[in-house]
Amino acid sequence: MPDISSTTETAYAEGNILKHTADGVGVITFNNPDKRNAMSLEMWEGFGEALTSLRDDEKVRVVILRGAGGKAFVSGADISQFEKVRHNAAASEEYARRSAAQRALLADYPKPTIACIQGFCLGGGMQVAMLTDIRIASHGSAFGIPAAKLGIAYGYDGLRHLVSLVGPSWARLLMYTGMRIDSAEALRIGLVERVIPDDQLWGETMAIAETISQNAPLAIKAAKITIAQVLKDESKRDMEAIKAIGHACMDSADFREGRQAFMEKRAPQFSGR
Ligand code: COA
Repeated sequence: MPDISSTTETAYAEGNILKHTADGVGVITFNNPDKRNAMSLEMWEGFGEALTSLRDDEKVRVVILRGAGGKAFVSGADISQFEKVRHNAAASEEYARRSAAQRALLADYPKPTIACIQGFCLGGGMQVAMLTDIRIASHGSAFGIPAAKLGIAYGYDGLRHLVSLVGPSWARLLMYTGMRIDSAEALRIGLVERVIPDDQLWGETMAIAETISQNAPLAIKAAKITIAQVLKDESKRDMEAIKAIGHACMDSADFREGRQAFMEKRAPQFSGR
């Protein structure tokens, strides 16, 4: 299992966002534990830079997002900035534009992404987690979108993902009350895929990431593209994209390698080509 802490660290947003890579796995850490990793605008932008860098790093095959400090994944947007940067509709629009641009990178990310959630996952933290492909949480985590407690309108993209994960009724219950739910309930309603004891969360998440990083990248890309199209309205589906990645896969050296490795009873070595 790669020990992330011993790998080179790149800091963004004055160290409030950290990036590591090891053995095909990229890790982005929200690192402002004193504020429960609340996201400032600078952090949103640093997050975007880290995402872009891991996207463009050919060695990285899967990206994990996590929070530092053990108490929170992300506790939402940094409310202390609101008075200055989000105090009315016009300011809010500019704020939303700048933070949404970073989330769009995650929404359209070409590589698999995993949210490793320990502790509070609230508001903008939920938005980030819901944009990843897979959510793994520790037993002691808590989830909620307190927009109604703050007077905030939650955007279309955030609600679209919430509704597609938990259905309209749970989305309404969560949004109308601003309530927090625990990991067991989050698992039951489909908000997270797996719940793990706190002390095993990181190891289990890395094990999943390593498995993904050793599988055939084009086959994973095909699954990612196709599942994204399934979620779209039929009229908006890009069936050509599904066909193209299907052809790329079946003509790939990796498909040959997968077949050969199986016949030779050895582990395949995939190159992503
Ligand atoms: N924005 C700004 N600061 C935040 C924050 C946020 N979203 N979440 C936590 N903090 C700060 C607190 O103000 C506190 O600062 P202080 O030490 O200067 O007083 C510090 O982080 C620790 O928070 P605290 O509330 O003492 O810790 P806790 O473990 O008891 O509770 C939370 C943690 C996350 C449940 C609680 O802080 C909270 O409810 N935060 C707001 C969540 C929210 O509404 N998010 C949606 C924003 S759109």
